[in-house]
Parts: sequence; C-alpha cells; structure tokens
Amino acid sequence: MSSIVSIHSFRGGTGKSNLTANLASQIALAGKRVAVVDTDIQSPGIHMPFNLGEDRIGCALNHFIWGECPIEKAAYDVSAALHGPGGPIYLVPSSMKMSDIGRILKEGYDVRILNDGFQALIEKLQLDYLFIDTHPGVNEETLLSIAISDILVLILRPDQQDFQGTAVTVELAKKLDVPNLLLVINKALPTMNFGELRAKVEKIYDVPVAAILPLTTEVVQLASGGLISLLHPDLEVSREMKKVAAQILAS
Ligand SMILES: Nc1ncnc2c1ncn2[C@@H]1O[C@H](COP(=O)(O)OP(=O)(O)OP(=O)(O)O)[C@@H](O)[C@H]1O
Ligand SMILES: [Mg+2]
Repeated sequence: MSSIVSIHSFRGGTGKSNLTANLASQIALAGKRVAVVDTDIQSPGIHMPFNLGEDRIGCALNHFIWGECPIEKAAYDVSAALHGPGGPIYLVPSSMKMSDIGRILKEGYDVRILNDGFQALIEKLQLDYLFIDTHPGVNEETLLSIAISDILVLILRPDQQDFQGTAVTVELAKKLDVPNLLLVINKALPTMNFGELRAKVEKIYDVPVAAILPLTTEVVQLASGGLISLLHPDLEVSREMKKVAAQILAS
C-alpha cells in the first residue's frame, strides 16, 4: 500500500518546500521508498535542499506532461542527500528553464496527465510514499493533489492573512473528504505561547495541529541549501518535523 502526502498552503513562502523535503527525508530514513514531485511548475525550488543541480536535470516534470519522457525518467535518485542508510528517495523536479515555464503558462495542460504520472511513478518505483510539493493558493494542480491525498499537511504562519486563507483550504479538504488532515504552524516566534497558539488554531479549524515549528536562525542560514532535520537534528524545528513524520508513518 502506498500513500500520497500533499503539503500545501494558501499563501506563498510558508515553508512548504522546506517541510516537504525534510518530511520525505525523515520517512526515507525510516526505510521507506519515497518520491517527491515538485508540482510548483511556475516557481520550482525543492531541488535545492536535495542538492539536485540543474546540470543533472534532463527530463523534468514538464517533459513528462508534454509526452516527451516517461515519468520515471524524470525521477532522480537524491538518496545521497540523506547522508546515511535509508531510502531510496527520488525527486521529480520541475524545469527551471524560462522557456519551459513559459510554455506551461502559455499552453496550460490537462491535470489528469499529472494524476496518471503519480500513479505510474508509484508503480514503477514501488513507492511507499509519494510527496507532492505544491504551488500556493488554489488552482487545478492543487485541487488534484488535495483530492487524491491520503494525507494533507496544511502549513500556515501565525499571521491573519494565513489564518483567513487556510480556512478556504480546510473547507476544500473537508469537502473533498481527505482522509487525514494535519495542520502545521511554521515560523512561530519562539517568544509566543505555543500552547495558546495551538488551542486557538485547533478551535478555528477543528483540525489537529501536528506541530509548531519555530522561526529558526539556522533554517534562514541554511537558505534552502540542505535538510535542517538531518544537519541539526537536535533543534526544536527538527524535532517537531520528526513528530510530523512519525504521525505520517503511523496513519
Ligand atoms: N521555521 C523556519 N524558520 C526560518 N526560516 C524558515 C522556516 N521555514 C522556512 N523558512 C525559510 O522560508 C523561506 C520559504 O520557505 P519555502 O521555500 O520552504 O516556502 P514555500 O512555502 O515552499 O514557498 P513558495 O510558496 O514560494 O513555494 C525559505 O528561505 C526557508 O528557508
Ligand atoms: Mg515552495
């Protein structure tokens, strides 16, 4: 049995890609076969923490969408990023080439192709977990990823705009009957009262808060150049990420 885990937020810059990369890595370290797909075709980025250089990327998700390569040819083994036994973990990046991004924006594409790709990837790579990193807001790709998720992780900052936007996504996830919905609060100031914050958010959405990740200097310093939960496993942000990974493994 394989599970699809989508990480989403209504607004941008909440920490989706960073959290996705760390959760997927923690689950690979637990010995699971994992892949991550970057469906943020307009503004890709999750290849950075996995250290997948553009020079290694031949086929990307874009080329699969255009029928130019099978999805497994766009999946790169990034297990070296784990720096230890576990995995394997694969990444399907989106193209960073301006012309490829422009073509997707201009021509659009049928999102059903993406779903076929996800299913083929699960089968071909015999995955236990498929992680989907998404573009913020609600669009066709995010609707698909939410609809097909076994687990949806919604990430928000303690910010009024995030609170309001997250209500829209929670409502959508409930309508689409997502089996497991988890909230993660990110970039909480360490001086905040985390207990009160948790209670407030759980009351607003009636959804459990899986973790509260503090705003962390070391994450800023890492600047998307690596996996914080592996490089600094003892930081609170890393321990909280591992708690979310444990919940995913248990559900
Ligand atoms: N807990 C944290 N403490 C400090 N910085 C963080 C934290 N979480 C994420 N960041 C930083 O915030 C920035 C945005 O993170 P990330 O790219 O993961 O967000 P995103 O939601 O994927 O953005 P986008 O919507 O553009 O895809 C990055 O520079 C990342 O390192
Ligand atoms: Mg992102």
